[in-house]
Amino acid sequence: MPNDFLSFFLSWMSSPRRVGAVAPSGAALAELITREISASTGPILELGPGTGAFTYKLLKRGVRPQDLTLIECGSDFMKLLQVRFPGARVLWMDAGRLTTEPLYDGAPVGAVVSGLPLLNMSRRKVISILSGAFSYLRPGGAFYQFTYGMSCPVPRPVLDRLGLRAKLVDRALLNVPPASVYRLTRRPQMKLITGSFAPQPSARVAPAHHARDHAATR
Ligand SMILES: C[S@@+](CC[C@H](N)C(=O)[O-])C[C@H]1O[C@@H](n2cnc3c(N)ncnc32)[C@H](O)[C@@H]1O
Repeated sequence: MPNDFLSFFLSWMSSPRRVGAVAPSGAALAELITREISASTGPILELGPGTGAFTYKLLKRGVRPQDLTLIECGSDFMKLLQVRFPGARVLWMDAGRLTTEPLYDGAPVGAVVSGLPLLNMSRRKVISILSGAFSYLRPGGAFYQFTYGMSCPVPRPVLDRLGLRAKLVDRALLNVPPASVYRLTRRPQMKLITGSFAPQPSARVAPAHHARDHAATR
């Protein structure tokens, strides 16, 4: 919305590190970051929705308003979101507190869409945001994050520590400035084979090697 440019710019003037952009995201980026989401994704957690550029797109994709939880720490944006998306759950809170403020029973969330300026945050904060978000994501769920940077905004040691992997979805070159979207998912779990493992009479390898080879293919 044209009006959003001014309110966004004013918010950025008052808190540049928190807002992290001088203008709301454009249509190309909203299209890209929501591309893999549909009505069947189920509950969606949106972090840092700002004026709702991604929220509008999620609704257009068929996500039900009651399936949307919007986490925004800017009070000006939060009030705007409450007016614009009355059917959604809009929470005025810091996304770094996701682990301390229970949002759901269990882990029903199908996707997290994040507009948070992760590059402006401490590593500790990024870890608490990701741990909290993934605690609500169901198996197979994904966390979508955009960045203006040239690589994934979550550093490799943080991905390793949390057991996550990141993959570039695509770049939105038409956005101003151009941006990239990354999909973060859990790494597949290693399964340990336990119990006795009887070698086949024809097997020529020692049983210990045999068992180890199977574990390594998982
Ligand atoms: C770069 S803007 C993105 C806004 C919107 N998603 C868009 O793309 O137009 C970052 C947003 O994250 C919010 N934000 C920053 N830190 C936050 C935090 N710790 N918890 C919740 N929201 C935060 C800001 O207030 C702002 O609305």
